[in-house]
Amino acid sequence: MARKIKIFDTTLRDGEQSPGASMNLKEKLQVAHALSDMRVDVIEAGFPITSPDDFEAVKKIAREIRGPVIAALARAHPKDIESCAKAVSYSWKPRVHTFIATSDIHIEKKLRKTREEVLDIAVNAVKLSRKLVDDVEFSCEDASRSDFDFLTKIVGAVIEAGATTINIPDTVGYAMPEEFGALIKNLKKGIPNSSKAVFSVHCHNDLGLAVANSLSAILNGAEQVECTINGIGERAGNAAMEEIVMALKVRPQIFNAKTSVDTRKIYIASRTVATLTGIHPQPNKSVVGANAFAHEAGIHQDGMLKERMTYEIMRPEDVGIPSNQLVLGKHSGRHALAKRLGALGYAVVEKDINEIYERFKKLADKKKVIFDDDLLALVDEKFAEMDEIYSLDYINFSSGTKRTPSAEVALKKDKKNLRASAKGDGPVDAVFQAIDKITRVKTDLEDYAIKSVSSGKDAMGEVSVKLKHKGISYCGRGSSTDVIEASAKSYLNAINKILAYGSLTKGRESL
Ligand code: KIV
Ligand code: ZN
Repeated sequence: MARKIKIFDTTLRDGEQSPGASMNLKEKLQVAHALSDMRVDVIEAGFPITSPDDFEAVKKIAREIRGPVIAALARAHPKDIESCAKAVSYSWKPRVHTFIATSDIHIEKKLRKTREEVLDIAVNAVKLSRKLVDDVEFSCEDASRSDFDFLTKIVGAVIEAGATTINIPDTVGYAMPEEFGALIKNLKKGIPNSSKAVFSVHCHNDLGLAVANSLSAILNGAEQVECTINGIGERAGNAAMEEIVMALKVRPQIFNAKTSVDTRKIYIASRTVATLTGIHPQPNKSVVGANAFAHEAGIHQDGMLKERMTYEIMRPEDVGIPSNQLVLGKHSGRHALAKRLGALGYAVVEKDINEIYERFKKLADKKKVIFDDDLLALVDEKFAEMDEIYSLDYINFSSGTKRTPSAEVALKKDKKNLRASAKGDGPVDAVFQAIDKITRVKTDLEDYAIKSVSSGKDAMGEVSVKLKHKGISYCGRGSSTDVIEASAKSYLNAINKILAYGSLTKGRESL
């Protein structure tokens, strides 16, 4: 019988720690729902002590999400643990995840402590956590660079103190697959009470080996893997969940292990995380990249036509990638739209369907063929607009190689009509400057990206912007068949987020 491997998703904690990836409460909930729809076993929802904002997000996720265990992170300090236990207590299945570094370099240079002191702190942290919740995970930060004998001693002691899961991180992405697999095997063998806890691994990707190290650990007895959607995370990122899950699924003869993840939900989760964080997987990214299933070379196309398995080890539909065929047209009804969105993995409620349907009809007037990706862009836009403070009424612009680009923008706020005009380096710049004149929010444009949502000359353009405001990055997105309008929508989307959430993100403490 295949062994069950637990999937512990840390997109909302380690993933959200990656530069520029911060999400607001509503966005975190959206990701948590996508993860729970995928049936991951554990969602690490945040790090409650770091800010009131993080605490609230963990609490809200714990209250709203049913199914997975809801975990949160805490340093091995009483205050961290108490705040963490309080935030996760709203879940039916709460977990406190506490950690301390165990490598000599961290113990001496960062913590300025001795091994004995670290051992005591770890044991006390687990004991306190166990008084507050039944499910306690302990992580030995920088485990892969820790002294093996000290590691066995501390892991044995925290299991004795009540830890139910032991996590062995390769914090700096230093380990090699064979070495990391051996570490897990030897720890399990060398610790007398190891069978009393679940062994987990948590690998970073500094040398591009996070997934390989996680898989090697599974082959050597790890029962839980910690990972993120699209592999986002600190520095070079964490192990990518979709790659681990698909490796286990595609190669059962090697691993004889399975997860409970519904792989058909992978694409929606990947897309949700990419649009909300503004961190898009590169086109050649395994499993979810735009080219992951594209066959360009003639010899490959020929093989594919004769027999898919010649060049395809998994099917796009296995990971929920839309067919990108003509799906709906101008005369399709509300019911067909809801059904198609359901097939794409979205459970959209009745009141939202009505609004998406109105947008769909407007788009169908402009565009003859509507693809799955167009529908997903409409849904993204609908969710993005829920916090609107300013809404776009209209834009007029003029531009050309022999004329100074200028734009007139009209926005609505609290039923007031607000108008401004500006000149710029190009029509997009002119539109952004006109919006700035109205909203008076000071920002730096960190990133601007435009891509076509589907194929054809009448394809919708999707624009993502990243604006920096008081040291924090905010993502905005917008789509339209007119790329200047899409740019205005995405810029305004980011401004609305700054106005809605800017005050909440103040005072976030970093580790
Ligand atoms: O990388 C790491 O060591 C971590 C721990 C806090 C689990 O993220
Ligand atoms: Zn980490």
